[in-house]
Amino acid sequence: MNQKVLFYSLYERFWHWIQALGVTLLLLTGFEISYPTQLDVLGFENAVRVHNLVGLFLVVNALLALFYNLAAGLIERYIPSVGDVFPKGLEHASYYIRGIFKGSPHPFDKTPDKRLLPLQKVTYFIVLNLLLPLMVLTGLLKLFVDAYPELIEALGGLTVIGPIHRVGAWLFASFLILHVYMTTTGPTWLANLSAMITGYGHVERADEETPR
Ligand code: HEM
Repeated sequence: MNQKVLFYSLYERFWHWIQALGVTLLLLTGFEISYPTQLDVLGFENAVRVHNLVGLFLVVNALLALFYNLAAGLIERYIPSVGDVFPKGLEHASYYIRGIFKGSPHPFDKTPDKRLLPLQKVTYFIVLNLLLPLMVLTGLLKLFVDAYPELIEALGGLTVIGPIHRVGAWLFASFLILHVYMTTTGPTWLANLSAMITGYGHVERADEETPR
């Protein structure tokens, strides 16, 4: 039976949309700082100010989310198992490469207590635990370059830290494009987006736990 159930709590949706807006702003202002002649919306000085402020705000947002997930005992849902990479991840990838274009059924059911599918778990784990901290760290090093010159030099100087931050930004942009595309692969094009806005989605059976 198809039933409407709560997938995302108000706080989870709030966190998500703040994060989405913040990362989009960081990418745009970062592009303006890197290529000021190609994108001139805020002006270089303002773009730097907004970039730094939004970056620091997102660090707080990420730490609050970490606290929320630890305190609510929900953190495990974001930790992929070996099985999520192989064989489940492979089966999942094969669906996106072939099955989806042939109209095959989705290999995994999305339910409130298993709402992250194998590849999502792996991707979010990499983005939130490797890419995001790498961007924060390299961003902070760039921000405090005048205050801690020896530290920056010991780490290879701005000629190393700068390109790492820039490559990370392109990886983030790639994630964003892929992520938005993937959200359209639910039961309908807009089903996942609607769930992340209203909190509610549909499942075949409603005997799963309601998320806290
Ligand atoms: C315009 C930007 C974005 C849009 C439209 C968007 C949309 C969505 C939608 C519709 C979902 C629910 C369906 C799903 O899990 O695939 C989702 C989940 C998720 N998104 Fe995004 N997103 C955006 C940006 C971001 C960014 C920048 C991040 C992280 C840095 C992010 C991290 C996540 C995570 C971790 C989930 C899973 C949440 C959970 O189930 O606990 N998203 N996104």
